[in-house]
Amino acid sequence: MTAAGSGSFQDGRIASKRLVMLVALLLVSCCLGHGFGDEDHVEVEGISSSCMESERRALLAIKSDMYDPDNWFSSWTGKDCCGWRGVACDNTTGHVTKLDLHYPYTYDEWDIPDIMETMGGSKVNPSLQELKQLKYLDLSMNNFSHAPVPKMIASLVHLEYLNLSNAMFDGPIPPQFENLSNLHYLDLHGWYDDLHVDDLDWLSRIPSLKYLDMRYLNLSKATNWFYVINFIPELEVLRLSDTDLPYVPSPLPPFNLTAIATLDLSWNSNITSSMLRWFSNATSLEYLDLSDCGNLTIEPLQVALASLINLKELDLSFNSLEGEIREILNNVSSRGLKHLDLSCNQLSGDIPPGSLGDLEYLDLSGNQLMSSYIYLLLWGISQTCDI
Ligand SMILES: *[C@@H]1O[C@H](CO)[C@@H](O)[C@H](O)[C@H]1NC(C)=O
Ligand SMILES: *[C@@H]1O[C@H](CO)[C@@H](O)[C@H](O)[C@H]1NC(C)=O
Ligand SMILES: *[C@@H]1O[C@H](CO)[C@@H](O)[C@H](O)[C@H]1NC(C)=O
Ligand SMILES: *[C@@H]1O[C@H](CO)[C@@H](O)[C@H](O)[C@H]1NC(C)=O
Ligand SMILES: *[C@@H]1O[C@H](CO)[C@@H](O)[C@H](O)[C@H]1NC(C)=O
Ligand SMILES: *[C@@H]1O[C@H](CO)[C@@H](O)[C@H](O)[C@H]1NC(C)=O
Ligand SMILES: *[C@@H]1O[C@H](CO)[C@@H](O)[C@H](O)[C@H]1NC(C)=O
Ligand SMILES: *[C@@H]1O[C@H](CO)[C@@H](O)[C@H](O)[C@H]1NC(C)=O
Ligand SMILES: *[C@@H]1O[C@H](CO)[C@@H](O)[C@H](O)[C@H]1NC(C)=O
Ligand SMILES: *[C@@H]1O[C@H](CO)[C@@H](O)[C@H](O)[C@H]1NC(C)=O
Repeated sequence: MTAAGSGSFQDGRIASKRLVMLVALLLVSCCLGHGFGDEDHVEVEGISSSCMESERRALLAIKSDMYDPDNWFSSWTGKDCCGWRGVACDNTTGHVTKLDLHYPYTYDEWDIPDIMETMGGSKVNPSLQELKQLKYLDLSMNNFSHAPVPKMIASLVHLEYLNLSNAMFDGPIPPQFENLSNLHYLDLHGWYDDLHVDDLDWLSRIPSLKYLDMRYLNLSKATNWFYVINFIPELEVLRLSDTDLPYVPSPLPPFNLTAIATLDLSWNSNITSSMLRWFSNATSLEYLDLSDCGNLTIEPLQVALASLINLKELDLSFNSLEGEIREILNNVSSRGLKHLDLSCNQLSGDIPPGSLGDLEYLDLSGNQLMSSYIYLLLWGISQTCDI
């Protein structure tokens, strides 16, 4: 089986732990997909409108700086650049509106490390800024050789979708990105990058943002992160796993993210129990990942979970939670939760009969459960909870 969807699954470092978990499942029927981040933007939306000569030349310049071992660009010939692979134009104005250069065109998530290792270098050609009407730009999964993120991307003010994930950029995210005020999707996550943000203020000037992925960036200096995020009321997906988030002192501002459906704050040691109280108003939340968040305790969790009435998937693994398993199960399983990961905590006690509700996936490995039923299921599985 594959565990589809979960963002944290992409985390190579915890992959081995996850394999153990798969064996340790108590109940598995199917895994949830999230509908986001689907990898196949493969269809070419080019139509027969002819393209502008200046934009055609800009595209050829961009191509000349891209690594292309598989002749990915073989369709990039002739006058009609709107029909080229990865390119699409507005069918009334003829301007190029979409440029999808993610490499390789199709791949399996598990192959990423191998692909990255062997990938030759590319450069972002300055001609990119001539494609002024671009709404969609995907440069993900290329090797931009640890170059800085090009500031000129900020001049493409019509962008609605920008994907720079795993493109081997280094350095700061340019604060000029504040000019991208039409963005709905911003994906900067990158295991292979070395990106950081020192001041997140620019983000508060992109109120149209619905999807923000900054996993693995270094946000340790962005002390205002929480206030900035709270200023983007349309946010539906927020992924900040493993970003060194600074501690947020109380009192927290009133909850503003009324559309939030997916929230991943995992692998951040400065998430505190007081923040959980703030979540209590996140009633639209369907997916919550708080694994390895350092200092969480059971009581505030119970309070928060009681109000998260739409939650479908919850990950609380690696949290040193102490208490009885039923204290958490009681509060979630009766309301449609499908996926619960409590592995690698210090939970004890038993699963009361009938308390599993709608759960389709439950992971309790690495706890101190007494039930012989559970014990049997976990028998022989070597638990590696310390990473
Ligand atoms: C960005 O690109 C990566 C790699 O190609 C992909 O996995 C991810 O889903 C994309 N993000 C969005 C928001 O589409
Ligand atoms: C342009 O594209 C839109 C949708 O992409 C379509 O509905 C419309 O009919 C097209 N117009 C022309 C003139 O082809
Ligand atoms: C990326 O490209 C550079 C050359 O620009 C090369 O030195 C490097 O080995 C490539 N791969 C990785 C993983 O950095
Ligand atoms: C951003 O917008 C400001 C004001 O509109 C402008 O002065 C500046 O040049 C823009 N920056 C970029 C990188 O386009
Ligand atoms: C993040 O950046 C801070 C300050 O620039 C630095 O001290 C810290 O080591 C970085 N963290 C990681 C994990 O690289
Ligand atoms: C909530 O978001 C709106 C729109 O960005 C903003 O005007 C307001 O100040 C925000 N409230 C808080 C408490 O951050
Ligand atoms: C966040 O937690 C780390 C320990 O994991 C600590 O070193 C750092 O000072 C904390 N940062 C803030 C701003 O509290
Ligand atoms: C949650 O909503 C209630 C009612 O709207 C409000 O009184 C309370 O202050 C909110 N809590 C937070 C943390 O935003
Ligand atoms: C987490 O809790 C421990 C012990 O209670 C404390 O020493 C540490 O400072 C706390 N860390 C944070 C980031 O609050
Ligand atoms: C949550 O759990 C606590 C303790 O088991 C219980 O008292 C409370 O009624 C539960 N709340 C809901 C909404 O199930």
